[in-house]
Amino acid sequence: MSFKHQLELAVRRAMDSAEIPADCAPMVVRSNRPEFGDFQANGAMAAAKQLKTNPRQLAERICQALAEQLGERADKLEVAGPGFINITLNGAYIGAQFAAPAAATQRNAQTVVVDYSAPNLAKQMHVGHLRSTIIGDAIARVLMHRGDTVIRQNHVGDWGTQFGMLIAELEEQLGSGERAELALADLEQFYQAAKLHFDADPAFADKARAYVVKLQGGDSHCRQLWQQFIDISIAHNVALYRQLGVLLTAADTMPESAYNDQLGDVVATLVNDGIAVEDAGAKVVFIDELADKNGNPSPMIIEKSGGGYLYATTDLAAARYRQQTLRADRVLYFIDARQSLHMKQVFATARRAGFVEPSMQLEHLPFGTMMGADGKPFKTRSGGTVKLADLLSEAIERATALVAEKNRDSDIGADELAEIARKVGIGAVKYADLSKTRTNDYIFDWDSMLSFEGNTAPYLQYAYTRIVSIFRRAGLAIDSFAGAVAIELPQERALALHLLGFEELLEQVARDCYPHLLCNYLYELASLFMSFYEAAPILKEGVTAISKESRLALAMQSAKTLALGLELLGIDTMDRM
Ligand code: ARG
Repeated sequence: MSFKHQLELAVRRAMDSAEIPADCAPMVVRSNRPEFGDFQANGAMAAAKQLKTNPRQLAERICQALAEQLGERADKLEVAGPGFINITLNGAYIGAQFAAPAAATQRNAQTVVVDYSAPNLAKQMHVGHLRSTIIGDAIARVLMHRGDTVIRQNHVGDWGTQFGMLIAELEEQLGSGERAELALADLEQFYQAAKLHFDADPAFADKARAYVVKLQGGDSHCRQLWQQFIDISIAHNVALYRQLGVLLTAADTMPESAYNDQLGDVVATLVNDGIAVEDAGAKVVFIDELADKNGNPSPMIIEKSGGGYLYATTDLAAARYRQQTLRADRVLYFIDARQSLHMKQVFATARRAGFVEPSMQLEHLPFGTMMGADGKPFKTRSGGTVKLADLLSEAIERATALVAEKNRDSDIGADELAEIARKVGIGAVKYADLSKTRTNDYIFDWDSMLSFEGNTAPYLQYAYTRIVSIFRRAGLAIDSFAGAVAIELPQERALALHLLGFEELLEQVARDCYPHLLCNYLYELASLFMSFYEAAPILKEGVTAISKESRLALAMQSAKTLALGLELLGIDTMDRM
């Protein structure tokens, strides 16, 4: 149970003693000013309203009962204002939390499908795929850390009409002696070449169109060309995932094509159940819950007139698979905000058709767009899409210059410097994205993300190295350090209470899927550590043995939490930089 939950429980018990109905919440929050104590219980006001009684008197009653509940665990309890209860905890009690960490929260671990990244394989991955990839990955890590079973699903697009054109082009290039790996070394170029060919040569265009039909009909020649294309394309993506430090591997790929043989059944089921109807030759689901303001239901086409399934049809099959085969309790879709209507239509229809059970949570976690300095979607100077590979190379290049500059007189070798630069560069790009509220657009800016000041990855990575260096100077191993925490100074108290709030914070991140909350937490942790370190010297002469041990213990906890927090964001730390 998290530290705050224990307190909530004590307050709720005190409310029981004061005969306050069980549906009144204790409303425990961290105090935002030290003069209000460490925590405040603010539930008395709402309870008094419900009981039609004086809030201040009710708060006094709760406060008395709470004094009994907490005993020596609290130093001071007082009622303030209209009925706030200010709680100041006992320093020894706070310190003891670090020695015997509260037993893990009893919760039902869930099976969670996380649908993220999911680029279309026809083209090279570009910056538009960055947000889904790194936000989804961070949330997957947090869920795993909390004990959920996470099933990653990379729902890549490998089945659109473009593939007819692409495999026809591949066939020609192979025919003139090219090897597939080389032909597809630059997918963007390959795509452009195929498109030019398609537009200029009617015979080629006819063949391309015929190949789509053949491919979807299972023709083995087309299928084999297509498979080569897909394998190489996925290998490109997996290389990028590695470089980015995200967990996705080839094994997490569950492409659109994998649902191909289920689409006919999906449509037939919906038609038989009267959920889909014929409309101008197409099969359409009309969704009443999503009707416009004139009452016209929202249409979702699941089969085109003349045949052919759609993106939505595949997503319906995927929802059913995630229920029936993967047996998910919760499915998270990290997809651009522009697909919100699509997701709502799919969820509503999957539920109505009974493809998913009522207990299964389906959540679309939308995100905003990455913008350039001009406030328009991020593009290259010439207005093209920015390839993800180029973006990451530039990040490492910039970080290399920065790290070299900072280490002009250091004895760190070239290999280690290169490794540091990689971690700083990639970390900066990821953190810049993760630290912005997911649902907003944000401006991509190299200088601010690579700054060692402010809420950035380099700042946090640096804060971590500073703590590690304290241990290095003390000749102690940080990993195996154990010591008792004894709270003396207000800065120690503030740092300790913040550290004890970590589990609670992760619970919130797991629930709401907002990684910026974790970023803010870590940034505040680093800042609290800096104030603590200024006020509470560790290795200076004259510090008592007890204080030294306690401060080292707090430093170690801070380092551990920083490293774990960054790891959950998918960001590496290092011992020096
Ligand atoms: N490939 C799609 C796109 O690039 C994203 C797929 C997201 N996942 C899903 N289940 N629809 O827009």
